[in-house]
Amino acid sequence: MHRSANPLHIGHLRLDNRLILAPMAGMLRLSLRMAYRRAGAAMTCVGVIDAGAIVKSGSDRLVNVLGRQEITNVAEEPVCVQLIGADTGLMAAAAERIEQQASIIDLNFSGPIQRLVDRGYGASSLLGDPQHIEKIVAAVVSRVKVPVTVKIRVGFQGDDVDVLRVAKGCEAAGAAAIVVHGRTVSQGYSGTPCWDWIRRVKQAVSIPVVGNGGVHSPLDAVAMLEQTGCDFVMIGTAAFLNPMIFNQIHHYMTAGTLPSTSATLTLLKFFRHYWRTVRQIDGYGPRKFLKRSCRHFLHLRSYMQRIQEGTIAL
Ligand SMILES: Cc1cc2nc3c(=O)[nH]c(=O)nc-3n(C[C@H](O)[C@H](O)[C@H](O)COP(=O)(O)O)c2cc1C
Repeated sequence: MHRSANPLHIGHLRLDNRLILAPMAGMLRLSLRMAYRRAGAAMTCVGVIDAGAIVKSGSDRLVNVLGRQEITNVAEEPVCVQLIGADTGLMAAAAERIEQQASIIDLNFSGPIQRLVDRGYGASSLLGDPQHIEKIVAAVVSRVKVPVTVKIRVGFQGDDVDVLRVAKGCEAAGAAAIVVHGRTVSQGYSGTPCWDWIRRVKQAVSIPVVGNGGVHSPLDAVAMLEQTGCDFVMIGTAAFLNPMIFNQIHHYMTAGTLPSTSATLTLLKFFRHYWRTVRQIDGYGPRKFLKRSCRHFLHLRSYMQRIQEGTIAL
């Protein structure tokens, strides 16, 4: 059983446990993210907030690259807000402007979507330019007090990114942690991740490392912690397929047993948490919760199933 001696800190921020809900732009409204906090995630993330749009609008509204506004809330904290952009000055200015709404600011150098790269967001294309990444990290770190983290991938097509150089550069530039998604850019969101890169990054840097990619069960989470030595595990698509996965991992890590409940019962347990946060945040009654929130969740769940199977490429 995993008994890590690693601290639970990212910079000055202490998390309650080692499990983080991944950023998934457009998929996770505030009430849904808060339901995952109730169901055992130590931190949630808001994905791909457009640094350029924040600066140009002159406001601190969190607008993501899909043009949708995101909201964070003190009750959700700790929450990580992720910025995307390739311009050093814009990234630093945007970070300063949104700092009040974030417990951590993450910089996205992992986004595989070509149209984002084409529109000048940088994203994973910057992995080929470690010096530029370092400049962005240093500029953002110098402007905010909250910890700044970086999310990377482990290659474009294969072993074609100097992952350790990128990771060490981010550390030297002041990053408080590195999230390593163990897939290459060309793998998108499915296919087998290479966890060994997470292990290699962990050995190369002294800041905390968050492992990400392919954690679908409590057994996977413990295996990732043990095989890579990473400090935190980030879970994306599996949070929709098994929304009680965070609780189940805690249970497995403490009691050593796996739940024997059916998928339907698991879903109902999660919807109990979700109902509370929807009532609190969205102000819906039971009918609207069932018709809107639950139905939308089930729709996203089948979408995530197809992403995991590789039948949808984003
Ligand atoms: C629909 C969707 C949206 C995503 N949006 C973001 C995002 O905004 N920022 C980001 O860094 N990663 C994003 N990701 C990637 C996830 O954060 C995560 O790295 C990826 O799903 C791998 O984790 P998993 O194997 O546990 O699903 C997204 C993934 C999906 C499927």
